[in-house]
Order: sequence, then structure tokens, then C-alpha cells
Amino acid sequence: MTIEVQQYDAIVVGGGGAGLRAALQLSAGGLNVAVLSKVFPTRSHTVAAQGGIAAALGNLGEDNWHWHMYDTIKGSDYLGDQDAIEFMCKNAAEAIYELEHFGMPFDRLDNGKIFQRPFGGMTQQYGLQPVSRTCAVADRTGHAMLHTLYQRNVHVKTQFLIEWFALDLMRDEEGDVLGVTALEIETGKVVALHAKATLFATGGAGRIFHASTNAFINTGDGLGMAARADIPLQDMEFWQFHPTGVAGVGVLITEGVRGEGGYLINSEGERFMERYAPHAKDLASRDVVSRAIATEIKQGRGVGAGKQAVLLKLDHLTEKVIQARLPGIRNIAIKFANVDPVYDPIPVVPTAHYMMGGIPTNLDGQVIASGKPVRGFYAVGECACVSVHGANRLGSNSLLDLMVFGRAAGNHMVKSVSGTSHKPLPKDFAERTVARLSRLDGQKSGESVTEVGETMRKTMQVHCGVFRFPELMVQGVEKIMQVAERVQNLAIKDKSLVFNTARIEALELDNLVEVAKATMVAAAARQESRGAHCREDFPQRNDQQWLKHSIYHSSGNRMEYTPVRLQPLTVDSFPLVARTY
Ligand code: FUM
Repeated sequence: MTIEVQQYDAIVVGGGGAGLRAALQLSAGGLNVAVLSKVFPTRSHTVAAQGGIAAALGNLGEDNWHWHMYDTIKGSDYLGDQDAIEFMCKNAAEAIYELEHFGMPFDRLDNGKIFQRPFGGMTQQYGLQPVSRTCAVADRTGHAMLHTLYQRNVHVKTQFLIEWFALDLMRDEEGDVLGVTALEIETGKVVALHAKATLFATGGAGRIFHASTNAFINTGDGLGMAARADIPLQDMEFWQFHPTGVAGVGVLITEGVRGEGGYLINSEGERFMERYAPHAKDLASRDVVSRAIATEIKQGRGVGAGKQAVLLKLDHLTEKVIQARLPGIRNIAIKFANVDPVYDPIPVVPTAHYMMGGIPTNLDGQVIASGKPVRGFYAVGECACVSVHGANRLGSNSLLDLMVFGRAAGNHMVKSVSGTSHKPLPKDFAERTVARLSRLDGQKSGESVTEVGETMRKTMQVHCGVFRFPELMVQGVEKIMQVAERVQNLAIKDKSLVFNTARIEALELDNLVEVAKATMVAAAARQESRGAHCREDFPQRNDQQWLKHSIYHSSGNRMEYTPVRLQPLTVDSFPLVARTY
């Protein structure tokens, strides 16, 4: 196979919020940068972010970044690194004003300031009472943000490789990253994108689960590429189940609904969150609310088919407020749940939403392996683990994460790349890619991508959900390892009709299964309950033995652990206490 080589100063893999924010910095810094995206950039999953982006602006009551920092550390169940969390919260206001100046059409208060709404776990005075900290564009914040960032990139003439699919990382014998191999989806052409610096902003991998709020494109491509190239993955056992996905469908109903005053009820009409989180109620953190819903359902107080959902009530907010602040939610409820929330409650259920773990990085977005930065390699956004979300992310901190660390990574890349030349590609730079493609293309008979993928998704759903059970996790590890073997034997059945689409789905499954393996193995290994990882056999958090990050190595499915960074940059550490809402 002949492989064309294209050279850039920097390659950004992923055209969502994180990739676009970093690319902006790179283009503005004078680098020759290309953003590769498997979909048109404004179709990236950031577009689906609804409720908003957190920053302690204090537009609706007193607020400051130190309270935000406290909430985020507590929300993370103390697994988040306090230096990274300080950095993010301290830089939040600047990130919002920067977006505002880029032209982002934030909703406004009567005094002209940016509108903010309450979100789960966001408080004043270190937990005293809820605060309005989440800046929003109705319930389409991610949409507005993605379009704003895309337009800015067009303005600074960032180059885009649209509908290109990244295949594998290229590393040399010293382990430095020299770019990626990639496939132009339309033509099937394989190209080596040779770069001085490579940034992964490939988003999440929620499609390892059967029921997910994630787009079909969220297939963990960056994590798969990293794992195959001997880069470890961090804290993969921690998956957030969003409390309110539309029952039976999975489409996200923003936490902004509860921020605006909506609340959950069970089959008896009881506002049950009052029992689980007497203080914060429906605005407790997501892990707490999801467990409460799952418990109500388990105890027979669910509604609908098989009593597998609870109800989200918002009719009391009035049509005027719903239409102004939650218009998209009204549409989603009508289309996907067949209810108009102006009159009737929406049936909802906890649904896989966000991966707290990812490719380990430092505050500059540099990927860390064996305790040191991998030269030429960066990651930001959901595919990265910096780690600001720890064991449970607070809603609206993810858009903030990608803005703050996208910028920081872009800045570091500009500094490290300027004035340097390309390291030569090793002779075997495309070996892995050629092997993967010929495995698929040469296969005459084999398993269907859909069937193997479905087995993976159902296995993850049953064996690694909101509550985790010891025997189920052990069986889950075995089953996922079998799925991983079956993935080696995939066949593309209908080459004539949908050749590249089917091929891409098979290549995506290579990536998904790496994420599923990492998740299952890390979950079975962590013998405590912390944040979103809730084990029936170890119901308590165990700081003595488990206050540590897990590091998963794909080769040999090996786990190791590294300390949580408890020391912030400039302020005192927040001590570990029991977490209640
Ligand atoms: O509920 C939501 O609007 C989701 C926000 C988030 O995941 O940060």
C-alpha cells in the first residue's frame, strides 16, 4: 500500500469544542495546523451539550472561583487533582468572557449580564446553598459554542480535513509521537499526517453502552489509538450516568430543567430526592441522583413499561419559561417521549453520558506515560483525563474543561513547536495501520460488526451500570475479552454497497472495544465505592486504600495506580470529608 505523507506543524484530531479551541490558539500562533474530523466540525458531539458552561461570574448572587473549586473537588469524590481543578475554576470567568468576545450569543439578564442557572452540586459558601453558576444559551449552549468556535477558526484560516478518520498514532523508537495515519472517508485514501505536535480531542466513548445520551460518533477513537500505541488510560472505571435520559430512547434532557425548578417524582407522586439528598434535593450531584432513581425503580416505584422510569415534572414552570429557557427540551419530549412537558411530566431514566477517565495529561495537555510527558502528544476534552472530574463530574464543568485546557494545550504546543523541525518518520510508521486495514479487507467470512458491537454494548450495560455487582463484573471482564477476540475476526459483509461506511464502523469497533476492556477491568479492580463507581460489595469510599488514580495498560490488561494530587497551586488543600448533599 502506498501511503502519501502530508506535513503540518500540528495536527488536531477532532473538530469538537476542545479541538477547535486548541486549533484557534495554534492558528493564531502562526502554526500550520490541520484539524481532522470524521464529521463536519459543527456536527461534533459538543453540539449536543444543552444546559451550559460553569463559571463563578456572580451575575445572580455572590460567587467566587474558590467555591467552584470546592464544589468540583467534592463532586469528584476527592479523586480530582486539586491543582488542575484550581487551574480550571480560576480561569473559568476569562474563558466565558473570551467566548462572549468571540460572539457567543449567551442568554442575557435584564441588566445585560450573562444569564446563569443553578446546576447540580454548584453552591455558595462551600455547600451552604445552590448558586446560579452555569452560563447558558437556552438549552442549546454547546450548539452556540461550537458554531462560535468554528467561525473563529474559519476567520483565522485553520485548515480542516473534513470526513477524515484517524487510524493510528505514529511513534518513533524513542516513543515520540509524530502524527497519525488517517483515512479520507470519501475516497478510501490512506495518508500519513506527519506533525511536530499531535493533539487528540476525539471526545467520549459513550457508545460502549447500549443506552447512551451520546451521538453514534462517540466511539472512543482517541483512546483506542492511544491504547494500541502503548499509552495508558486513566480512571476508566468512572462513567457518569446522567439522571435524565428519555426512557427507552436515551436522548438527553438537560439538568437545566431541574436548574429551572423542575423535579423528579416516582409512581406515588412523591418528590423522592428529598429523602436521598435532603439539602440539595434534585440538584445533588449526578451520581447521587442517578443512584436514587435506580433505587426507586428497583424498589418498584417506577412508572411506564416494566416500571423502568421515573417522571420529570416541569409543567409548573409555565409555558413562557419553558419556551424561553428550555425550547429544545420541549421539542425532544414531544418527539421522543410523546409528551408535551408544558402539560405532562417526561419519563426519564439514568443513561450513560460521560467518561470521567481518559488519556492522562498534565495541565498543559501533554500526555503522560510512565510519569513523564510523551513528546509531541497532547489530549484535551472528554478523551483526556487531566483530572478535573475525578470520580464524578459536575454538570456544566465539561464545556469549561475543554475551553480552559484547549487553550492551555494550544499555548504549550505553539511554544514547543516553534523553531523546531520534523523528526523523521520511522520506516515502519504505517505498519499497524496496514495490518488493521488488510485484516478487514482480506476477510472473506467472519463476524458481523453490528452483532459483535451489540454484544459489547449489552454486556457493558448489564455488567457495568449505575450499581455494580461483584459476580457480574467478573463475568463482564470475561465477556468483554471474548468480544475483543471476536473483533479480530470481523468481516465487512456488503462491500459493494457501503464499503467505507461499513469499514469505518469496523474500525470504530476496534476503538470501542479498547475502551470497554479498560472500563471493565478497572471497575472490577477497584474495591470501593467512589463517585460514579458504586459497588454492592464495597459500599463505602476507602481513602486508606483507594485514594488513587487507576492506570490501565491495554497490553496484558494490566492495572497500576498513581497518587491523587491533593496539593492545589496557590491555595490550601481541601481536606477529605464524607460527601453529602
Ligand atoms: O444536563 C446537561 O445539560 C448536560 C450538561 C453536562 O453534561 O455538562
